[in-house]
Amino acid sequence: MHMAQIFYDIALKGITIHRVNFRSNVVHTEDVVVSFSLSIPDGEIRSALDAGKLSYFTSNALDTPMPGNSLSAVASIYFIDLVPIKEHMLEARRVLKPGGLFINFGPLRYMRGDVANMLSGEEILDLYSQSGFDILAHDVVPNTQLASSQVITSVHSNNFVFVARKR
Ligand SMILES: C[S@@+](CC[C@H](N)C(=O)[O-])C[C@H]1O[C@@H](n2cnc3c(N)ncnc32)[C@H](O)[C@@H]1O
Repeated sequence: MHMAQIFYDIALKGITIHRVNFRSNVVHTEDVVVSFSLSIPDGEIRSALDAGKLSYFTSNALDTPMPGNSLSAVASIYFIDLVPIKEHMLEARRVLKPGGLFINFGPLRYMRGDVANMLSGEEILDLYSQSGFDILAHDVVPNTQLASSQVITSVHSNNFVFVARKR
């Protein structure tokens, strides 16, 4: 709910946020609290918002209020390793139109839940292929989280990325 509120605050008026860095991770004391101004600039996203074509809501991703066969794409970001993967796949398959895309980006850093859901990348691709999807692309893409010029260490992740099209 907090992220949804921030989305609308940024969309409506722009906001200033303050990131608090651990003292153990900065050289300069002035870098403990760093301010950022966030707003949505003019462009496609601004136009879609102003036209009422873009909105944000929260729900259980395993049981969404979206009708079946209604979406062109589902993006699952830093999420597939947090929820029971088969339930997530079944809900994405339900809401996607035929030809709709499921796009995954995130690490496979399973930390809780049933070990039966802790699939390797290849097992995930097999699950989708055997459940009515064609795999269009897959890769491992590195990124760095929480990096900035002020902090000393940040988190490096290798992310499992794939795009699956509902048949
Ligand atoms: C690692 S965060 C990623 C958030 C976002 N996708 C991003 O990249 O910043 C995972 C989020 O999933 C939420 N979450 C966990 N289980 C969920 C579920 N069943 N339905 C919807 N959200 C869930 C958590 O509360 C958390 O906000």
